[in-house]
Amino acid sequence: MNGQYSEKVMDHFMHPRNVGELPDANGVGTIGNPVCGDVMRLYVKIEDDKIVDVKFKTFGCGAAIATSSMVTEMVKGKSIPEALEISNRAVAEALGGLPPVKMHCSVLAEDALRSAIKDYLVKSGREKEFPEIKLKGEHDEGHEHP
Ligand code: FES
Repeated sequence: MNGQYSEKVMDHFMHPRNVGELPDANGVGTIGNPVCGDVMRLYVKIEDDKIVDVKFKTFGCGAAIATSSMVTEMVKGKSIPEALEISNRAVAEALGGLPPVKMHCSVLAEDALRSAIKDYLVKSGREKEFPEIKLKGEHDEGHEHP
């Protein structure tokens, strides 16, 4: 046990929710963390503008796994605009916080979610409806300090 991590982080790391692939996903986002090289893939199934199912696969550190797990729980049942409002900071807060050096790992979760939604919008010819979707990792190299 690492005392730096909250119980919630440890719980989501040891028992991650929604792990795996979604065969009938209509949006997939794959994001690599430029800081450490870890990779997260997130699958979403969107119906009537709601995220009805979500799964992830993360090849990364414990904080990356915990934040992926938490973001899948936070996003299920949300509309597209609601899902786009979920920030890496909100995910970290929902986990009871992350050590500052691990905040960059949570950027992966936010960006993978945004990129999966973007993929869905592009595939369904609707990307113009949400032109503001930006990935954090592209701007600040994934660094995020509290
Ligand atoms: Fe790579 Fe956490 S160290 S995502």
